[in-house]
Amino acid sequence: MDRETAILQAGYRSNKDAGAFVDGPQFAATYIAPGDPSQNSLTYGRFHNPTWTMWEEALGVLEGGTAISFASGMAAVAAVFGVCLRPGDAVVLPADSYYTTRVLASNWLTAIGIQVRLAPTRDNGQMRVLEGARLLWIETPTNPQLEVCDIQELVRVSRRLGVLVAVDNTTATAYLQQPLALGADYVVASDTKALTGHGDVVLGHLATTDQERASALRAWRTQQGAIPGPMEAWLAHRSLATLALRLTRQCASAEALAAFLRSQPTVETVYYPGLADHPGHAVAKRQMRAFGSVVSFDLGTLARAEAFLRALTFVREATSFGGVHSTAERRARWGGDAISEGFVRFSVGCEATQDILNEVGSALEAAV
Ligand SMILES: Cc1ncc(COP(=O)(O)O)c(C=O)c1O
Repeated sequence: MDRETAILQAGYRSNKDAGAFVDGPQFAATYIAPGDPSQNSLTYGRFHNPTWTMWEEALGVLEGGTAISFASGMAAVAAVFGVCLRPGDAVVLPADSYYTTRVLASNWLTAIGIQVRLAPTRDNGQMRVLEGARLLWIETPTNPQLEVCDIQELVRVSRRLGVLVAVDNTTATAYLQQPLALGADYVVASDTKALTGHGDVVLGHLATTDQERASALRAWRTQQGAIPGPMEAWLAHRSLATLALRLTRQCASAEALAAFLRSQPTVETVYYPGLADHPGHAVAKRQMRAFGSVVSFDLGTLARAEAFLRALTFVREATSFGGVHSTAERRARWGGDAISEGFVRFSVGCEATQDILNEVGSALEAAV
Protein backbone atom coordinates (compact mmCIF):
# COMPACT_ATOMS: atom_id res chain seq x y z
CA MET A 1 0.00 0.00 0.00
CA ASP A 2 1.35 3.43 -0.91
CA ARG A 3 2.01 5.77 1.99
CA GLU A 4 -0.65 8.15 0.72
CA THR A 5 -3.26 5.39 1.10
CA ALA A 6 -1.81 4.21 4.41
CA ILE A 7 -2.15 7.73 5.86
CA LEU A 8 -5.87 7.68 5.02
CA GLN A 9 -6.36 4.35 6.82
CA ALA A 10 -4.20 5.16 9.82
CA GLY A 11 -5.94 5.24 13.18
CA TYR A 12 -9.42 4.50 11.77
CA ARG A 13 -11.78 1.58 12.37
CA SER A 14 -11.22 -1.23 9.83
CA ASN A 15 -13.69 -1.78 6.98
CA LYS A 16 -15.00 -4.96 8.70
CA ASP A 17 -15.59 -3.23 12.04
CA ALA A 18 -19.19 -1.96 12.36
CA GLY A 19 -19.68 1.37 14.10
CA ALA A 20 -19.27 5.08 13.56
CA PHE A 21 -17.19 5.79 10.48
CA VAL A 22 -15.18 8.19 12.60
CA ASP A 23 -15.34 8.15 16.40
CA GLY A 24 -15.81 11.60 17.91
CA PRO A 25 -13.33 13.13 20.37
CA GLN A 26 -13.55 11.62 23.82
CA PHE A 27 -13.67 14.31 26.49
CA ALA A 28 -12.83 12.67 29.79
CA ALA A 29 -10.89 13.95 32.77
CA THR A 30 -11.47 10.70 34.63
CA TYR A 31 -12.86 7.22 33.98
CA ILE A 32 -14.96 4.82 36.04
CA ALA A 33 -12.18 2.48 37.07
CA PRO A 34 -12.85 0.56 40.30
CA GLY A 35 -10.18 -1.45 42.14
CA ASP A 36 -6.59 -2.03 41.05
CA PRO A 37 -5.67 0.76 38.58
CA SER A 38 -3.35 -1.58 36.67
CA GLN A 39 -6.41 -3.70 35.73
CA ASN A 40 -8.12 -0.77 34.00
CA SER A 41 -6.92 0.44 30.61
CA LEU A 42 -8.44 3.90 31.14
CA THR A 43 -8.13 5.69 34.48
CA TYR A 44 -7.27 9.39 34.28
CA GLY A 45 -7.19 11.98 31.50
CA ARG A 46 -3.53 12.95 31.89
CA PHE A 47 -2.43 9.32 31.49
CA HIS A 48 -4.27 8.30 28.33
CA ASN A 49 -7.14 9.14 26.01
CA PRO A 50 -8.62 7.06 23.15
CA THR A 51 -8.62 10.08 20.81
CA TRP A 52 -4.89 10.55 21.35
CA THR A 53 -4.40 6.85 20.71
CA MET A 54 -6.06 7.08 17.29
CA TRP A 55 -4.03 10.18 16.40
CA GLU A 56 -0.79 8.59 17.59
CA GLU A 57 -1.49 5.43 15.60
CA ALA A 58 -1.83 7.59 12.50
CA LEU A 59 1.37 9.52 13.30
CA GLY A 60 3.19 6.25 13.89
CA VAL A 61 2.28 5.05 10.38
CA LEU A 62 3.50 8.34 8.95
CA GLU A 63 6.80 8.38 10.88
CA GLY A 64 7.54 4.64 10.77
CA GLY A 65 7.81 4.39 14.57
CA THR A 66 5.95 4.82 17.85
CA ALA A 67 4.53 8.33 18.10
CA ILE A 68 3.63 10.37 21.17
CA SER A 69 1.56 13.52 20.89
CA PHE A 70 2.25 16.67 22.93
CA ALA A 71 0.48 19.94 23.66
CA SER A 72 2.82 21.87 21.32
CA GLY A 73 5.96 21.49 19.25
CA MET A 74 8.01 23.05 22.06
CA ALA A 75 6.58 20.56 24.56
CA ALA A 76 7.88 17.78 22.30
CA VAL A 77 11.30 19.48 21.96
CA ALA A 78 11.51 19.85 25.75
CA ALA A 79 10.58 16.18 26.21
CA VAL A 80 13.58 15.00 24.16
CA PHE A 81 15.89 17.35 26.07
CA GLY A 82 14.33 16.15 29.34
CA VAL A 83 14.77 12.42 28.76
CA CYS A 84 18.17 12.56 27.01
CA LEU A 85 20.20 15.20 28.86
CA ARG A 86 21.69 15.30 32.35
CA PRO A 87 24.05 17.80 34.03
CA GLY A 88 27.53 17.43 32.54
CA ASP A 89 26.20 16.40 29.10
CA ALA A 90 26.65 18.43 25.91
CA VAL A 91 24.04 19.03 23.21
CA VAL A 92 24.84 20.22 19.68
CA LEU A 93 22.19 22.54 18.24
CA PRO A 94 22.03 24.23 14.83
CA ALA A 95 23.08 27.88 15.17
CA ASP A 96 20.25 28.61 12.72
CA SER A 97 17.54 26.45 14.28
CA TYR A 98 14.07 27.68 15.18
CA TYR A 99 14.85 30.48 17.60
CA THR A 100 12.86 29.19 20.59
CA THR A 101 14.70 25.85 20.57
CA ARG A 102 17.95 27.78 21.10
CA VAL A 103 16.34 30.01 23.74
CA LEU A 104 15.02 26.97 25.62
CA ALA A 105 18.49 25.45 25.61
CA SER A 106 20.38 28.58 26.61
CA ASN A 107 17.87 29.59 29.31
CA TRP A 108 17.22 26.25 30.93
CA LEU A 109 19.81 23.64 29.93
CA THR A 110 22.89 25.73 30.64
CA ALA A 111 21.41 26.63 34.05
CA ILE A 112 21.62 22.96 35.10
CA GLY A 113 25.14 22.40 33.78
CA ILE A 114 24.40 21.13 30.27
CA GLN A 115 26.79 22.48 27.65
CA VAL A 116 25.08 23.92 24.56
CA ARG A 117 27.19 23.94 21.38
CA LEU A 118 25.98 25.82 18.32
CA ALA A 119 27.16 25.15 14.76
CA PRO A 120 25.71 25.93 11.32
CA THR A 121 23.39 23.56 9.48
CA ARG A 122 24.97 24.25 6.09
CA ASP A 123 27.65 21.76 4.94
CA ASN A 124 26.87 19.55 7.99
CA GLY A 125 28.67 22.12 10.16
CA GLN A 126 27.44 20.42 13.33
CA MET A 127 29.66 17.43 12.55
CA ARG A 128 32.71 19.47 13.59
CA VAL A 129 31.59 19.83 17.23
CA LEU A 130 30.12 16.38 17.92
CA GLU A 131 32.98 14.80 19.85
CA GLY A 132 31.91 13.96 23.41
CA ALA A 133 28.32 15.21 22.97
CA ARG A 134 25.29 13.27 24.22
CA LEU A 135 22.74 14.59 21.72
CA LEU A 136 22.83 16.05 18.23
CA TRP A 137 19.80 18.17 17.40
CA ILE A 138 19.21 18.62 13.65
CA GLU A 139 16.68 20.83 11.92
CA THR A 140 16.39 20.44 8.14
CA PRO A 141 15.25 22.47 6.31
CA THR A 142 15.75 25.11 9.01
CA ASN A 143 13.19 27.73 9.91
CA PRO A 144 13.39 30.41 8.53
CA GLN A 145 16.55 30.26 6.36
CA LEU A 146 15.80 26.85 4.84
CA GLU A 147 19.33 25.52 5.21
CA VAL A 148 19.71 21.78 4.67
CA CYS A 149 21.97 19.12 6.15
CA ASP A 150 22.48 15.46 5.35
CA ILE A 151 20.60 13.42 7.96
CA GLN A 152 22.11 10.06 6.98
CA GLU A 153 25.65 11.39 7.05
CA LEU A 154 25.21 13.09 10.42
CA VAL A 155 23.64 9.91 11.81
CA ARG A 156 26.56 7.85 10.50
CA VAL A 157 29.15 10.01 12.25
CA SER A 158 27.03 10.31 15.42
CA ARG A 159 26.70 6.51 15.68
CA ARG A 160 30.47 6.17 15.56
CA LEU A 161 30.85 8.76 18.34
CA GLY A 162 27.99 7.39 20.47
CA VAL A 163 25.87 10.53 20.04
CA LEU A 164 22.06 10.33 19.94
CA VAL A 165 20.35 12.09 17.01
CA ALA A 166 17.04 13.97 17.08
CA VAL A 167 15.61 15.67 13.99
CA ASP A 168 13.15 18.56 14.08
CA ASN A 169 11.10 17.74 10.99
CA THR A 170 8.60 20.59 11.25
CA THR A 171 9.22 22.35 7.94
CA ALA A 172 9.28 19.13 5.88
CA THR A 173 6.73 17.01 7.81
CA ALA A 174 6.80 13.22 7.85
CA TYR A 175 5.16 13.15 4.46
CA LEU A 176 8.13 14.81 2.74
CA GLN A 177 10.95 13.41 4.88
CA GLN A 178 11.29 10.39 7.19
CA PRO A 179 14.22 10.87 9.58
CA LEU A 180 13.64 7.55 11.41
CA ALA A 181 14.12 5.67 8.14
CA LEU A 182 17.36 7.66 7.69
CA GLY A 183 18.60 6.36 11.06
CA ALA A 184 17.64 9.13 13.53
CA ASP A 185 16.84 8.10 17.11
CA TYR A 186 14.07 10.67 17.51
CA VAL A 187 11.96 12.76 15.19
CA VAL A 188 10.17 15.81 16.56
CA ALA A 189 7.69 18.17 14.94
CA SER A 190 5.44 21.10 15.56
CA ASP A 191 2.10 19.86 14.24
CA THR A 192 0.85 23.42 14.47
CA LYS A 193 2.35 23.85 11.00
CA ALA A 194 1.92 21.90 7.74
CA LEU A 195 1.13 18.54 9.32
CA THR A 196 -2.30 19.77 10.42
CA GLY A 197 -2.26 22.75 8.07
CA HIS A 198 -5.41 24.68 8.98
CA GLY A 199 -4.08 27.21 11.47
CA ASP A 200 -6.51 26.06 14.15
CA VAL A 201 -4.51 23.86 16.53
CA VAL A 202 -1.26 24.08 18.50
CA LEU A 203 0.21 20.59 18.81
CA GLY A 204 3.46 18.67 18.56
CA HIS A 205 4.65 15.09 18.49
CA LEU A 206 7.74 12.97 18.55
CA ALA A 207 8.45 9.44 17.41
CA THR A 208 11.09 6.78 17.87
CA THR A 209 11.58 3.16 16.84
CA ASP A 210 12.92 2.20 20.29
CA GLN A 211 10.24 1.01 22.74
CA GLU A 212 12.21 1.89 25.87
CA ARG A 213 12.69 5.44 24.62
CA ALA A 214 8.99 5.64 23.75
CA SER A 215 8.08 4.53 27.31
CA ALA A 216 10.40 7.13 28.83
CA LEU A 217 8.86 9.86 26.67
CA ARG A 218 5.34 8.78 27.56
CA ALA A 219 6.30 8.83 31.26
CA TRP A 220 7.76 12.32 30.78
CA ARG A 221 4.47 13.52 29.26
CA THR A 222 2.41 11.98 32.06
CA GLN A 223 4.58 13.42 34.79
CA GLN A 224 5.38 16.78 33.22
CA GLY A 225 1.83 17.25 31.95
CA ALA A 226 2.12 18.78 28.45
CA ILE A 227 -0.70 16.61 27.09
CA PRO A 228 -2.70 17.33 23.93
CA GLY A 229 -6.39 18.21 24.26
CA PRO A 230 -8.76 15.56 22.82
CA MET A 231 -10.38 18.13 20.52
CA GLU A 232 -7.00 19.20 19.13
CA ALA A 233 -5.97 15.58 18.58
CA TRP A 234 -9.24 14.87 16.80
CA LEU A 235 -8.99 17.94 14.56
CA ALA A 236 -5.38 17.08 13.78
CA HIS A 237 -6.30 13.51 12.81
CA ARG A 238 -9.04 14.81 10.54
CA SER A 239 -6.59 17.23 8.89
CA LEU A 240 -4.06 14.47 8.28
CA ALA A 241 -6.33 12.88 5.67
CA THR A 242 -5.51 15.70 3.23
CA LEU A 243 -1.80 16.01 4.07
CA ALA A 244 -0.54 14.50 0.80
CA LEU A 245 -3.03 16.48 -1.28
CA ARG A 246 -2.26 19.74 0.47
CA LEU A 247 1.49 19.39 0.35
CA THR A 248 1.60 18.22 -3.24
CA ARG A 249 -0.19 21.42 -4.24
CA GLN A 250 1.72 23.67 -1.85
CA CYS A 251 5.16 22.35 -2.82
CA ALA A 252 4.42 22.69 -6.55
CA SER A 253 3.33 26.30 -6.02
CA ALA A 254 6.32 26.99 -3.77
CA GLU A 255 8.67 25.79 -6.53
CA ALA A 256 6.91 28.08 -9.01
CA LEU A 257 7.09 31.00 -6.56
CA ALA A 258 10.81 30.46 -5.89
CA ALA A 259 11.51 30.48 -9.65
CA PHE A 260 9.37 33.59 -10.10
CA LEU A 261 11.09 35.44 -7.25
CA ARG A 262 14.45 34.50 -8.69
CA SER A 263 13.47 36.30 -11.92
CA GLN A 264 12.57 39.54 -10.10
CA PRO A 265 15.29 42.21 -10.06
CA THR A 266 14.07 43.72 -6.77
CA VAL A 267 14.51 40.44 -4.87
CA GLU A 268 18.07 40.24 -3.55
CA THR A 269 18.18 36.59 -2.47
CA VAL A 270 15.76 33.67 -2.67
CA TYR A 271 16.07 30.83 -0.14
CA TYR A 272 14.45 27.59 -1.30
CA PRO A 273 16.06 24.12 -1.34
CA GLY A 274 14.24 23.31 -4.57
CA LEU A 275 16.39 25.83 -6.47
CA ALA A 276 19.19 24.01 -8.29
CA ASP A 277 21.86 26.38 -6.93
CA HIS A 278 20.72 26.20 -3.30
CA PRO A 279 23.71 24.85 -1.31
CA GLY A 280 21.59 21.99 0.07
CA HIS A 281 19.71 21.16 -3.15
CA ALA A 282 21.37 17.81 -3.90
CA VAL A 283 20.92 16.56 -0.32
CA ALA A 284 17.33 17.82 -0.15
CA LYS A 285 16.56 16.08 -3.43
CA ARG A 286 17.86 12.82 -2.01
CA GLN A 287 16.21 12.92 1.41
CA MET A 288 12.95 14.77 0.71
CA ARG A 289 9.96 13.87 -1.43
CA ALA A 290 9.51 17.55 -2.39
CA PHE A 291 11.09 20.77 -1.16
CA GLY A 292 8.41 22.13 1.14
CA SER A 293 5.85 24.91 1.26
CA VAL A 294 7.99 27.75 2.65
CA VAL A 295 9.97 30.15 0.45
CA SER A 296 12.06 32.86 2.08
CA PHE A 297 13.47 35.89 0.30
CA ASP A 298 15.30 39.08 1.01
CA LEU A 299 14.03 42.47 -0.09
CA GLY A 300 17.07 44.25 1.30
CA THR A 301 15.50 46.76 3.67
CA LEU A 302 12.89 46.90 6.40
CA ALA A 303 10.95 49.57 4.46
CA ARG A 304 10.69 47.48 1.31
CA ALA A 305 9.67 44.34 3.18
CA GLU A 306 6.98 46.29 5.06
CA ALA A 307 5.74 47.87 1.82
CA PHE A 308 5.55 44.41 0.24
CA LEU A 309 3.49 43.06 3.14
CA ARG A 310 1.16 46.09 3.13
CA ALA A 311 0.48 45.61 -0.58
CA LEU A 312 -0.74 42.02 -0.22
CA THR A 313 -4.46 41.66 -0.87
CA PHE A 314 -5.35 38.11 0.22
CA VAL A 315 -2.12 36.72 1.69
CA ARG A 316 -2.28 37.36 5.43
CA GLU A 317 0.58 38.86 7.38
CA ALA A 318 0.87 36.22 10.08
CA THR A 319 3.49 34.10 11.76
CA SER A 320 3.56 30.28 11.60
CA PHE A 321 3.57 28.45 8.25
CA GLY A 322 2.46 25.38 6.34
CA GLY A 323 -1.28 26.13 6.30
CA VAL A 324 -3.81 26.00 3.48
CA HIS A 325 -3.89 29.81 3.40
CA SER A 326 -0.77 31.62 2.20
CA THR A 327 0.85 33.82 4.84
CA ALA A 328 3.93 36.04 4.94
CA GLU A 329 5.88 37.91 7.56
CA ARG A 330 8.99 40.02 7.98
CA ARG A 331 10.85 37.58 10.11
CA ALA A 332 13.33 39.99 11.73
CA ARG A 333 10.45 41.64 13.62
CA TRP A 334 10.90 38.81 16.17
CA GLY A 335 14.71 39.02 16.49
CA GLY A 336 16.95 36.06 17.27
CA ASP A 337 17.90 35.02 13.72
CA ALA A 338 20.94 36.07 11.70
CA ILE A 339 18.85 37.57 8.89
CA SER A 340 18.45 41.00 7.35
CA GLU A 341 15.62 43.42 8.19
CA GLY A 342 14.24 42.82 4.69
CA PHE A 343 13.94 39.03 5.06
CA VAL A 344 10.43 37.74 4.28
CA ARG A 345 9.24 34.21 5.10
CA PHE A 346 6.43 33.27 2.74
CA SER A 347 4.29 30.22 3.45
CA VAL A 348 2.64 28.98 0.27
CA GLY A 349 -0.95 27.80 0.72
CA CYS A 350 -3.41 25.92 -1.48
CA GLU A 351 -4.65 28.88 -3.52
CA ALA A 352 -4.31 28.67 -7.32
CA THR A 353 -0.62 28.97 -8.19
CA GLN A 354 -1.16 31.80 -10.66
CA ASP A 355 -3.08 33.83 -8.07
CA ILE A 356 -0.13 33.53 -5.68
CA LEU A 357 2.33 34.60 -8.37
CA ASN A 358 0.10 37.55 -9.37
CA GLU A 359 -0.28 38.58 -5.74
CA VAL A 360 3.46 38.49 -5.10
CA GLY A 361 4.27 40.17 -8.42
CA SER A 362 1.92 43.11 -7.68
CA ALA A 363 3.19 43.48 -4.11
CA LEU A 364 6.79 43.52 -5.35
CA GLU A 365 5.89 46.28 -7.82
CA ALA A 366 4.38 48.28 -4.96
CA ALA A 367 7.48 47.78 -2.85
CA VAL A 368 10.14 49.33 -5.10
C1 LIG B 1 11.11 24.22 13.41
C2 LIG B 1 10.18 24.44 14.57
N1 LIG B 1 10.27 23.64 15.64
C3 LIG B 1 9.47 23.80 16.70
C4 LIG B 1 8.51 24.80 16.74
C5 LIG B 1 7.66 24.98 17.96
O1 LIG B 1 6.36 24.56 17.71
P1 LIG B 1 5.07 25.10 18.52
O2 LIG B 1 4.89 26.53 18.16
O3 LIG B 1 3.98 24.18 18.05
O4 LIG B 1 5.37 24.92 19.97
C6 LIG B 1 8.39 25.65 15.64
C7 LIG B 1 7.39 26.74 15.65
O5 LIG B 1 7.42 27.63 14.83
C8 LIG B 1 9.23 25.47 14.53
O6 LIG B 1 9.16 26.26 13.45
